[in-house]
Amino acid sequence: MTQDFDPREIIPFYGGQRPDMFEIERRCMDRDGKVIAHLDGLLPGGLVLDIGAGNGFTASALSNAQRTVIPMEPDPNMIDRSKGLLWARGTAQSIPFHDHAFSAAYSTWAFFLPGVAERPQGLAEVIRVTQPGGLIVIVDNAGDDGLCALSPRTIAEPDGRWYTERGFERTIIETSYRFDSVPEAQALMAFYFGKDIGLSVKSDEISYRVAVYTGHSNKLTPNP
Ligand SMILES: C[S@@+](CC[C@H](N)C(=O)[O-])C[C@H]1O[C@@H](n2cnc3c(N)ncnc32)[C@H](O)[C@@H]1O
Repeated sequence: MTQDFDPREIIPFYGGQRPDMFEIERRCMDRDGKVIAHLDGLLPGGLVLDIGAGNGFTASALSNAQRTVIPMEPDPNMIDRSKGLLWARGTAQSIPFHDHAFSAAYSTWAFFLPGVAERPQGLAEVIRVTQPGGLIVIVDNAGDDGLCALSPRTIAEPDGRWYTERGFERTIIETSYRFDSVPEAQALMAFYFGKDIGLSVKSDEISYRVAVYTGHSNKLTPNP
């Protein structure tokens, strides 16, 4: 399918152009799979939507005999068709599914959207396609950790207020980026934050706190 999206609606993401760096990120971030295990415990069976699914890593891990996860992704360069998943192309702001099509929906590190101004539209869309009372989960950086300390700019949702004001509850998962070696840690951090910051990393493990926002579609308010 060749369907193009307004570039203003897409979060710039490096994964399609630098699969080598994305491979390190996906392998080393939360290496013990705490986030996946948490989502697996929360999500129901049935049809579940993954918004901004990247290469389908999470959708694949969360699919099982009772639960079919549909990965939705706008960037064709991210889509990995070797995983045996049923892919959809779309954005959070305009989800190409009928009302109430999914028993639940989640998004991992993909709900920044081009600007906070677009998030209410994205959230309204997620609520629309989720069954009344269905679970909605959004995962993001929590801050106050080794990763955010390295970043010269803010990369975490400050205190999660945008979500809690709209009815989400916030749970923190303490995890880490654990690399195969210090040079591998330096390579990814240099790619993220620049060479000098990358070279300042002297450990193969960087602490990382993840915020998991959960709410039920009938209790969430996109524009409080
Ligand atoms: C940081 S990656 C996360 C990928 C995946 N969820 C994961 O955890 O590995 C962000 C993803 O969101 C996608 N994306 C960009 N703009 C989007 C939008 N407006 N709606 C939904 N997804 C979007 C990007 O193409 C990218 O694959």
